[in-house]
Amino acid sequence: MKPDRRQFIQNAAGGLGALSIGSWLDTATKQSLLGEIRNTLLANPGPEDEDFWALIRQAYTVSPQIINLNNGGVSPQPAVVQDAMVRFYHQANEGPSYYMWQVLDQGREPLRRRLAELAGCDPEEVAMNRNASEALETAIYGIDLDKGDEVVLSKQDYPNMINAWKQREQREGIVLKWVNHQLPTEDSDLLVKGYTDLFTSRTRVVHITHIINWNGQVLPARAIADQARKKNILVVIDGAHSFAHLDYSVPDLGGDYFGTSLHKWLSAPFGSGFLWVKKERIAETWPLFASQEPRSEDIRKFEALGTRSFPIEHAVGEAIDFQLLIGNRRKQKRLWYLKNYWTSQVQDLPGVSIGTPVSSDWSGAIALLQIEGKEPSEISQALWKDHKIHTVAIVWENIKGVRITPHVYTSLRDLDLLVKAIRQIAST
Ligand SMILES: Cc1ncc(COP(=O)(O)O)c(C=O)c1O
Repeated sequence: MKPDRRQFIQNAAGGLGALSIGSWLDTATKQSLLGEIRNTLLANPGPEDEDFWALIRQAYTVSPQIINLNNGGVSPQPAVVQDAMVRFYHQANEGPSYYMWQVLDQGREPLRRRLAELAGCDPEEVAMNRNASEALETAIYGIDLDKGDEVVLSKQDYPNMINAWKQREQREGIVLKWVNHQLPTEDSDLLVKGYTDLFTSRTRVVHITHIINWNGQVLPARAIADQARKKNILVVIDGAHSFAHLDYSVPDLGGDYFGTSLHKWLSAPFGSGFLWVKKERIAETWPLFASQEPRSEDIRKFEALGTRSFPIEHAVGEAIDFQLLIGNRRKQKRLWYLKNYWTSQVQDLPGVSIGTPVSSDWSGAIALLQIEGKEPSEISQALWKDHKIHTVAIVWENIKGVRITPHVYTSLRDLDLLVKAIRQIAST
């Protein structure tokens, strides 16, 4: 979805309509904050418009005690999303089987449509679930494979997904072929070749992580998928870090399956996600939790979870409103701007390097800080102990460093403090 300004304002207004049942309007403060955000939007704010982003920050409940730069792990939610979840929770408790199964459940189909709109796909291709692991493991375990069939994946993929494929290897004798990326790189051909060199006549599936979580590298998912398609290889895309972070529509990535969490970049409640399955693949894919008709063409067969958290699921709608209020493209630009803001100030310091591509085609908010002679844990501990900056040390395969991830609520002041801290740590 690439809204121009007019479209964007319409979307924001649509969001307001949906919000009128609740949370934004329940206090004068929230109402005036929303009004201010809307007013500021009239000037079409860009990534450097601090007045606008300061208002967005106010919409979150940011801790004044710490600087949270591990938004790559999980994202906080704006107050409206938190409020919605609590509201639905209280409502559910007034009579769980009535409110959950008869009232809130009615909201699932409208929510599916809204999520599909955000993802740029058909609602009949969207199954709502709890996170990227569940979504992707549904795909991984749902594809029929015979002993000896090959799957191409990378050593830099996410551990849960690697483990799922390895379990199939152990249990069923499929064969895993591993790409070992040398990151960072902005060489598309090299990245694509890493996968295509491993394609053989036995290759059935390629597994692609759209944004590598360890260092924020964007992979050319579409280009890899295009090559896979020529050989009838199924494409599974892990979009845990790219959804609501980069501006794209899910079918445009060229995959057959796509899974993401919504508690990362969409700022939806913890424990929300979705699986997208291309229409023509639904019938042939087995659900992870058995359904009455496992070979059905109905995407809902992937939602047979049993009792789930309706409050979490339904508050996703508020997170979608908030995303639309900012706009996908505007958000992507700001996230990259924040990353570039701090990396550009430290990358030339002696001993400091950034293990993430520079350009906005190949990166978003996530970047990996490396300081010669210092272990990642040493750096992240120093950032925490002396500056109360929360980050995460990364040591995975050939990737080592401290992952630093701002979000839309991160202020430049926070990043100035980060830069000062890095200067200090690098000089000792
Ligand atoms: C690339 C990638 N895939 C999948 C996941 C799994 O996400 P979740 O724990 O929400 O299932 C993560 C989590 O960080 C991730 O970074």
